[in-house]
Formats: sequence, structure tokens, C-alpha cells
Amino acid sequence: MSASQTPILEVQDLVIRYGKRAAPAVEDVSFSIARGETLGLVGESGSGKTTIGRAILGLVPVASGRILFDGRDITEAGPSERRALQGDLRAVFQDPFSSLNPRRPIGDALTEPLRVAGMPRARREQKAREAMAAVGLPEAAMERYPREFSGGQRQRIAIARALVTDPRLVVCDEAVSALDLSTQAQVLNLLAELRAGADLGYLFIAHDMAVVEFLAQRIIVLNRGRIVEEGATSEIIHDPQAHYTKVLMAASPVPDPDEQARRREAWRALKASASAPAA
Ligand SMILES: Nc1ncnc2c1ncn2[C@@H]1O[C@H](COP(=O)(O)OP(=O)(O)OP(=O)(O)O)[C@@H](O)[C@H]1O
Ligand SMILES: [Mg+2]
Repeated sequence: MSASQTPILEVQDLVIRYGKRAAPAVEDVSFSIARGETLGLVGESGSGKTTIGRAILGLVPVASGRILFDGRDITEAGPSERRALQGDLRAVFQDPFSSLNPRRPIGDALTEPLRVAGMPRARREQKAREAMAAVGLPEAAMERYPREFSGGQRQRIAIARALVTDPRLVVCDEAVSALDLSTQAQVLNLLAELRAGADLGYLFIAHDMAVVEFLAQRIIVLNRGRIVEEGATSEIIHDPQAHYTKVLMAASPVPDPDEQARRREAWRALKASASAPAA
């Protein structure tokens, strides 16, 4: 297999257990992500989505199976190997506040991963400014503190922080779930723009099918820690095969039918527009 065909991520027969006697949270899960591909990971609450993301990031131990990044086995990667990987493999979580130090200006958060990678100061400040510009925030914002930003802006900062190292793969775990609909649309458009031409892949974890549909080329459906269906996004959305997927699709993410209709309409509008205005 040539280097360009090696998937950026390969997960083989992954099993993850929390506690010895507990049923596995993730069981025999296998999938791969091609370079520059966005793979959506959906499933109801507790199905194991976050667990898979965390295992890839080295945050939960793997009971069995393998995780390969760019062809290299990282299943048992130790701290120094993880550090070497941290520029290539990044994450954006639901609550960016939890990953930002409230007592440090956000410029520090942006330059920190570059400092760890040994980049000279002038260069890392340059990279941080570029990352800020890429997510549509003014350079002056680097001097400000996390609490001084709105939720949508904080998520932009989290994205800038993930992308500042020019990663190959970003694990996005419910990265837009806490945002209101229009901010969600802006951040999703931003994620789509940033991957364009960058050979950047995403593992995009979300419970909201509409959000996944917008970004993912392929979708994996998870039920109780197992993959029940996998396919191209349009197939999964328009012609789901597994009963579980059908139910998941039919289940409205919001209980209010008026709100649901409004959401659907908003999504149609979003998909029709080439790009939404910046926040
Ligand atoms: N730290 C933990 N200790 C013990 N059990 C855990 C832990 N984290 C998750 N679990 C269990 O593992 C299973 C999968 O959880 P996980 O968080 O991966 O689900 P999820 O698909 O991300 O759900 P959600 O959509 O609610 O975020 C659940 O049964 C959960 O209770
Ligand atoms: Mg989760």
C-alpha cells in the first residue's frame, strides 16, 4: 500500500471496558478514515461515541484491538509518543471552556501546543495569529481571557487551537452541540472551509443527524458499542438499512414539532447557501 493510500486512521476490532466485570462500552469496532475524509459517528446517548474518540486520543485504555495512525500502531503509545503525535492528532470537544485555562489569555492556549513541539517563539506567534484569522477572530483577541468570549467565539478558539499545529486528523466530539442553530451553522461552515485543500480529516461525533449530514462523507452508526450500519452519508440518511438507524433518523432531536420544522427549514437554507457570515 502506498503512503497516500494508507488511511490516516485505522481502528481494528476495538474493545473498551470500564471496569473488569462491566459489559464492554465498545465492542469489536473497526473502521478507517482516509486522508482528508470526514467520518461521522452517530448513535444514541451512551452508545460509545465519546469512548471511541477518547481511545483514539489515548485518554482511555483499550482492552483489545488496535488503533493505527498513519499506519503506525498507537494503541499502547506512551506519554512521549503521544506528545510527538499531538500536533497531528487534535480534538475539539463540546465545552471548550473546560479545555481553556481561565487565568491565561487565549494567545497562550494557541501557542502552547507549538511550544511543546519546540517551535521558536516568533514562529509560534505567527502561527497563532494565522489560526485566529482562519477562524475569523481579530488578532487583538489573543490578549483576552476565555470568559470574555461568547460560546460560539470560544468554539472558534477551540478550533483555532486544534488547527494551529496543522493536524492530519481532528476528533470533534459534539463540537457544535451546545451552540444555537445559527452559530452552529457558522461553525460547521468554518470546519468545512478549514478542511478544504488541507488534507485534513475529521472524526465527527454528534447525536444530531442533520449536523453530521452536513459535514460527513461517510457515517458509522453505533448501537450499544457496536457498529450497526456504515455507508456513504446520502445512503445512511436517505436509505438506512438497519432498524436502529431508521429509528434514530425518525427520532426528532427536539421534542417541539414547530421547532423541528424550523430546524429543518434552517438546514435547508444552510445547505443552499455557499457560506454563512462569520460570527
Ligand atoms: N468514565 C466512565 N466510567 C464508567 N463508565 C463509563 C465512563 N464513561 C462512559 N461510560 C459508559 O460507557 C458507555 C458509553 O459512553 P459514551 O460516553 O462513550 O457514550 P456516548 O455515545 O458518547 O453518549 P453521549 O451521546 O451521551 O455523549 C455508557 O454506558 C457510559 O455509561
Ligand atoms: Mg459523548
